[in-house]
Amino acid sequence: MNDVEYSFNELSSEVSYWLMPRLQTVFSAEEKKDKTVEAAEYSFFAGGKRIRPCIMYASAQMLGLDCNEILEFAAALEMIHTYSLIHDDLPCMDNDDLRRGKMTCHIKYGEGIALLAGDCLLNRAYEILLKASSIDHKYAYASYKIAKLAGICGMIGGQSLDLCSIDKKIDLNDLYKLHSLKTGALMEAAVCTPFFVLNSDKDIHHVTTDSVLVLLKRLSMHIGLSFQIRDDILDLVSDSATLGKSIGKDSRDNKPTFVTELSYDEACSKLARHIGDCEEILETFSTKGYDITMLKTIVHFLERRNS
Ligand code: IPE
Ligand code: IPE
Ligand code: MG
Ligand code: MG
Ligand code: MG
Repeated sequence: MNDVEYSFNELSSEVSYWLMPRLQTVFSAEEKKDKTVEAAEYSFFAGGKRIRPCIMYASAQMLGLDCNEILEFAAALEMIHTYSLIHDDLPCMDNDDLRRGKMTCHIKYGEGIALLAGDCLLNRAYEILLKASSIDHKYAYASYKIAKLAGICGMIGGQSLDLCSIDKKIDLNDLYKLHSLKTGALMEAAVCTPFFVLNSDKDIHHVTTDSVLVLLKRLSMHIGLSFQIRDDILDLVSDSATLGKSIGKDSRDNKPTFVTELSYDEACSKLARHIGDCEEILETFSTKGYDITMLKTIVHFLERRNS
């Protein structure tokens, strides 16, 4: 483990301590008797970096928001992410048999139950968001944004472009769009949710044009691209034992990625450029008096992560 992974691991333990008790009560003891819930929890607790909750936690810390204000959002976002992985692995999508170091959900439980396990995580995520919003309206806009960023204008839209790009040559702009949607959108939800909760008393026009939000969105875009470019690189150069998922899938499936459309070296320099952009934005926050320590740790991890 390198130093960068070590400091990320410390942050990740802090986040786990905060998040895990909430994740464990997402489904009740009665619900846990159901096969679909068993399958959902199999994937949900299989491991995984919990990078989106980590980013949300670090963003809340930077903005000075109590982390308990975003606990429901972090849980919901990780559930949406896990559902997207279960569906992404299905034979009708990427047809993978290894995820988070274990058999994929459909290999273990069959395709029908895996499909329902994904649906059930997604649905429960919206139950959590709607419940929080109905208890206190200050959570409503942030909930709406998560739903939007997970949908056709975000992650699902990116997955749609991803499937439609198989066997095709696409230009770099379209590849940027694909990656920004399929991966960047949930990163935007992670980075911006604390801002929406913090500013829920302001009128919506004021909020959406705020200069801090503009910076946060730019940061999340570069985080998302860095994350997915590193994912593409690892698919080429890593091994499945380290990664916990199968490798070489992108070229096997003839999928355009940053390493298939560019050379390996070019993909690495694009990654370095987006990491540099993240650092520059964080420095801007720092000069405005924000504490960027945690987000900086995450950005350094994104550049060098091995899993
Ligand atoms: C994998 O996401 C899917 C991509 C968006 C590249 P993660 O790498 O965050 O997966 P887990 O949650 O750690 O398993
Ligand atoms: C998946 O991207 C992104 C999602 C929205 C699930 P990939 O298909 O590249 O993710 P991995 O490599 O299977 O984790
Ligand atoms: Mg995929
Ligand atoms: Mg995949
Ligand atoms: Mg991948």
